[in-house]
Amino acid sequence: MLPANYQIRLMQPSDFSEIIEICKRVYPTDTPYTPDELNEHHRVFSEGQFVAIDAPHGAVAGVHFTLRLRLRDFHVDDPWDILTAGGTFADHNPEGHTLYGADIMVHPTHQRHGIAHALTDSARSLTQAENLWRMVGASRLPGYGKRRASMPPEQYVAAVVRGELVDPVLTAHLKDGWTVVRPIHGYLPHDDESDGWAAVIQ
Ligand SMILES: CC(C)(COP(=O)(O)OP(=O)(O)OC[C@H]1O[C@@H](n2cnc3c(N)ncnc32)[C@H](O)[C@@H]1OP(=O)(O)O)[C@@H](O)C(=O)NCCC(=O)NCCS
Repeated sequence: MLPANYQIRLMQPSDFSEIIEICKRVYPTDTPYTPDELNEHHRVFSEGQFVAIDAPHGAVAGVHFTLRLRLRDFHVDDPWDILTAGGTFADHNPEGHTLYGADIMVHPTHQRHGIAHALTDSARSLTQAENLWRMVGASRLPGYGKRRASMPPEQYVAAVVRGELVDPVLTAHLKDGWTVVRPIHGYLPHDDESDGWAAVIQ
């Protein structure tokens, strides 16, 4: 499935500067990760931080950051800042039964090559290897903002699930095996493209 020129491995400190550049490209209005934050992710749960490498060029093409949580400590509509302890992953719980997908991003040059799918499969393999109960996450809905006047988010998400509408992010997550729990507001409050909405997925 993944083209032969890409490989998945665990994140290393030497990847940090390239990851920050990808972050700036795919989230241009957000503050990018800092080296200190990436170092913390690496320190608290190195086995849950995956990168895809464009092997011929030795370049980082995409990343998937995960941590383990005990879900009863959280609510279904908690925002990203709460679920990640402000992006530090300090809430990673080695006893947590849920693998939470905090972020997945692929450099625009490398999108639509199956990289997100392969990164998701790596997290799925970790979930199985550690005998965890589930993976959860939340999908941005960047196609929703321009439709907000014509339909509520529940209707939009249902149409994407049925394949009647295509969302640049939720459609990819659905194809990668995630299912929708429910839309929530305020997961990423400054995500204007999504009008502040996201879909909790598992
Ligand atoms: C969402 C994202 C991670 C997908 O990465 P990707 O590597 O391009 O995805 P894949 O190539 O693995 O695609 C998986 C499937 O989704 C489909 N897909 C991917 N992007 C799509 C899009 N924009 N529109 C429709 N379908 C799409 C692919 O065609 C593929 O389908 P297939 O299995 O039938 O072949 C990437 O677009 C991205 O980094 N976006 C910006 C950051 C972001 O918003 N991340 C999500 C945070 S919740």
